[in-house]
Amino acid sequence: MLIKTRDDGYTHPQSSEITSQAVYQDRRQLMRLMAGGAAGAVLASWAVRDARAQMPGQGTKLVGRTSAVSGASTMDKLTEFKDASSYNNFYEFGTDKSDPARNAHTLKTAPWTVAIEGLVKKPGNYTLEDLLKLSAMEERIYRMRCVEGWSMVIPWVGYSVAELIRRVEPLGSAKYVEFVTLADSKTMPYVGSRVLDWPYVEGLRMDEAMHPLTLLTFGMYGEVLPKQNGAPLRLVVPWKYGFKSGKSLVKIRFTDKQPATAWSVAAPQEYGFYSNVNPLVDHPRWSQAAERRIGEDGLFAKKRKTLMFNGYEPQVGQLYAGMDLKKYY
Ligand code: MTE
Repeated sequence: MLIKTRDDGYTHPQSSEITSQAVYQDRRQLMRLMAGGAAGAVLASWAVRDARAQMPGQGTKLVGRTSAVSGASTMDKLTEFKDASSYNNFYEFGTDKSDPARNAHTLKTAPWTVAIEGLVKKPGNYTLEDLLKLSAMEERIYRMRCVEGWSMVIPWVGYSVAELIRRVEPLGSAKYVEFVTLADSKTMPYVGSRVLDWPYVEGLRMDEAMHPLTLLTFGMYGEVLPKQNGAPLRLVVPWKYGFKSGKSLVKIRFTDKQPATAWSVAAPQEYGFYSNVNPLVDHPRWSQAAERRIGEDGLFAKKRKTLMFNGYEPQVGQLYAGMDLKKYY
């Protein structure tokens, strides 16, 4: 973990931490040398670093160590930072993909607290600083698949939500976790619009929330989250459609009842509670069998086949053993 606290808990980039042109050139040189025969895995991991060095490092640095969680990093090529931070869904700031990047500057991310409530031994208000310090930051390169049929590959920074859940000690009666996000009409211009019931609420079964892949996310591409991506903290659940990954979380509630989630309330015939990525279960209005990878959308770019559980089946398939996934969509 590489985080140094300042007043709002975030880190300042040290000049020594910013990739210099010389280091960057060295990496390119090394890549060329390694391309001649070094092990693919090593090369791929350098390719990731190299790709990141090309990102405009404008945000506050937040670096995570490489995660040890099984399946936490794919070798897929990273989506460019500029795409991941300008093609967004964050309806509190507008429904067009370009709206959040344009409008989310009004979001006030400090001070920030997350209320822990419900069936739990240690409820309370946890500040962002508390949460940043709670566990070591990890970098995880996850595939993200939106229900609308596009996907991205993003290096997120955070730690397993399970770390937080263990600290707050849920009661045995807690079967679900509800994630509530900020709804502040003063700073979020579309809160109050009729597209959804606000606040935006998401939920997971307890075992899904406890799965090590479920990430409490504070950063991406080695920096704190841009506001349009859900600053200062959000959820990322890589085997579920993107809308399960609630942004700008303010409350985590433990409950014995399945939470009424924003999209399943708005359009129950289209969006269920589970929303696992599943190429075999179509959305009522379109197929879910293929996806367009953002950045690969040239004239001749082929769509990719969507993978069961977004490719995370070896890690999460067991959570759904014996369930009819057409019924529990
Ligand atoms: N969280 C909130 N609070 N509001 C939203 O509108 N959109 C969801 C999810 N989290 C949304 C949200 C949807 S539909 C997707 S696909 C992902 O955020 C997009 O995350 P990204 O913009 O970081 O790619």
